[in-house]
Amino acid sequence: MKRIFSGIQPTGDIHLGNYVGAIRNWVYLTGEYDCIFCVVDYHAITVEYPIEEMRRRTLDAALILLACGLSPENANIFVQSHVREHTELAWIFDTVTPIGEVERMTQFKDKAKQHRSNINMGLMSYPVLQAADILLYKAGFVPVGEDQVQHIELSREIARKFNGRFKPIFPEPQEILSMAPKILGVDGQSKMSKTLNNYIGILEEEGEIWEKLRTAVTDVNRVRRNDPGDPAVCNIYTIHRAFSDNNMLLEIDKGCKTAGIGCIDCKKMLFGNLKNELTPIREKALALGKDMGYIEDVLAKGAAACGAIAKTTMDEVRETLGLYIP
Ligand code: TRP
Repeated sequence: MKRIFSGIQPTGDIHLGNYVGAIRNWVYLTGEYDCIFCVVDYHAITVEYPIEEMRRRTLDAALILLACGLSPENANIFVQSHVREHTELAWIFDTVTPIGEVERMTQFKDKAKQHRSNINMGLMSYPVLQAADILLYKAGFVPVGEDQVQHIELSREIARKFNGRFKPIFPEPQEILSMAPKILGVDGQSKMSKTLNNYIGILEEEGEIWEKLRTAVTDVNRVRRNDPGDPAVCNIYTIHRAFSDNNMLLEIDKGCKTAGIGCIDCKKMLFGNLKNELTPIREKALALGKDMGYIEDVLAKGAAACGAIAKTTMDEVRETLGLYIP
């Protein structure tokens, strides 16, 4: 079976954007691929974070993956720092990665802007570690959101550079994009994110979700209930496209353009579908949360399986580099 690898940062608030762009797609893919999913804690330390929360956030990220439908039966799930070879391979990849390439990564530029007082080497090397994550398992496919495509391109380049300089042992990984559209935050302007506080958390209570939806920005030109709206510029419609079936989409498209359906009605319809999808996830998360020992077991099993693959690759890499191996 073809192998896929993907990672998620333990940021503390996994939201609808992460779910639609990544996690839900991962669940779809489990049947067709040999799947490895990783909570990338070493990526998360490239910016300031509350130290006392990292452990909890890491376990919670794993819990969310399980609540969404991943399981030790359909995937290997583990924590990046538990398999030491990730950082080891990243160092080696650092030596074949042109600085000019990492400097032009948009995520690096954005983060450098956001964290002016802490533009560290790790922030720059972030996509190199990501390439190591993927190539350590020789994964050919990487399901990610659109914002990560540039990093996957760089992973291909790193594989090419390594293969060309030493020996062709790495595949050039391809991204797999989610079919769902990219959704914005409830401000209707920027990408959904925890830092911008414009997100809907995947485990939020129904009441909280409704409150955020109720006040979410729609088509700004639709001021009065009787004004016709334009679904094409409405973020609520985009979210509908990720959660509603075609019949409902057609109904809303028509209703919005003719002012037959108001924004609040449209949001209520969306809320119904969101509830249907998210309530079982929240309930499962609550149940799983009562037995953190189980989560720890899943992660230990994942790390053992992935650690074995990682070791084989690193042995091969060290030999390929011509290092002295006693
Ligand atoms: N950079 C990714 C993100 O922010 C997370 C990530 C780390 C990742 N390593 C990865 C994704 C390897 C895919 C493959 O979403």
